[in-house]
Amino acid sequence: MAKLTVRDLDVRGKRVFLRVDYNVPLEEKDGQMVITDATRIVETLPTLKLLIEKGGKLILTAHLGRPKGKRDVTMSLAPVAVKLGELLGQKVGFVADCIGEPVEQAVAAMKEGDVLLLENVRYYNEEEANDPAFSAKLAKVADVYVNDAFGAAHRAHASTAGVAAVVAARGGKCAAGLLMERELKFLGDELDHPARPFVVILGGAKVSDKIKVIDRLLEKADTILIGGAMAYTFRLAQGYQTGKSLVEPDAVETAKLALSKAKVKNVKFLLPVDDVVATPVKTDKLDKKGKPVIEFQNPTVSTDLNVPAGTAGLDIGPATVKAYAAEVAGAKTILWNGPMGLFENKQFAAGTNAVAQAVVAATQTSGAKSIIGGGDSVKALNKAKLGDKVTFMSTGGGASLEFLEGAVLPGVAALSDK
Ligand code: 3PG
Ligand code: MG
Repeated sequence: MAKLTVRDLDVRGKRVFLRVDYNVPLEEKDGQMVITDATRIVETLPTLKLLIEKGGKLILTAHLGRPKGKRDVTMSLAPVAVKLGELLGQKVGFVADCIGEPVEQAVAAMKEGDVLLLENVRYYNEEEANDPAFSAKLAKVADVYVNDAFGAAHRAHASTAGVAAVVAARGGKCAAGLLMERELKFLGDELDHPARPFVVILGGAKVSDKIKVIDRLLEKADTILIGGAMAYTFRLAQGYQTGKSLVEPDAVETAKLALSKAKVKNVKFLLPVDDVVATPVKTDKLDKKGKPVIEFQNPTVSTDLNVPAGTAGLDIGPATVKAYAAEVAGAKTILWNGPMGLFENKQFAAGTNAVAQAVVAATQTSGAKSIIGGGDSVKALNKAKLGDKVTFMSTGGGASLEFLEGAVLPGVAALSDK
């Protein structure tokens, strides 16, 4: 990586402005917000420990949710400060603001190795607007800038890009944290020079979300396995009936182009050969957004590439699982992004779980490098308690996808070159 990292920095006695992605899932329990998955916090610990050891004063900024410029207690980072203190084994200070007097006072009292977390930067609209005056206010307590927030690196916001520009203009250094470095290594360098065969598993709902990734990976992969609802848009492109499956008629031409590019590039491009289908039925119940809850009745395996009328395809079937598992078993590099079906519903989780098992087996028994591209595939692996049995799981969602598309992430671009 051509960017400066925390390893290269001398931070003794300096104020290190450290952007982290602590956008963790929270749930209300007995009137308190409780963190349900601390992965994003845990993954920053090596960076924090290194900077503490080097004698820096760590001032952490982060966002939580999308409060849209307003204070919202359900999106406060206060519970994160408590959790971070427990995980780090040292006191973590917290300031209920991210700019101004209270922050400057707290920072003035810091000693080498102290850690302070500031309140949600998105309580200010100027954060997402990347407002230069707001960046200057944030940068008041920054001698050095470090970005370990890979998950937010696709955002050109004040704390992910603006502050770095202010620090750099003063001649200060802007470096990547160890998590950022690892993310760029696995999602970048490792996939640019993969051990072969390089097998890519792509799932999720929409072709339109993944088409740039598909297009780019068609240049690099030996095999691409498609699952999730987006498989049905490919079916549509091949002229089959898709019943009530989720499809994107607007993306049919795109799907056709991908299929022909796969032929030209000699990439093995596999689509499901069987499906788990079920009949969607609207119920009287409403979901959190006030929409009627859909129930899926009579799940059955269908081997007809035409999805039976009145039913929707919701998971890959057992013959597809077998074919995909065989490809994965022979792989030396695996990239997986997106579930194979509606895995949140256990009736349709078998395909995703079987692929997870196959990826783990290839990693553990034949030494394949397995890289999980964030978002729902990470959720699925964690749910199956297999998270620690793959080579790398990204902490990014949108950021991983944009990076895999080949985009230059603003949070990375803002860092100093080596
Ligand atoms: C995420 O959870 O994807 C990141 O923290 C970025 O959050 P955002 O999508 O609200 O910008
Ligand atoms: Mg997001």
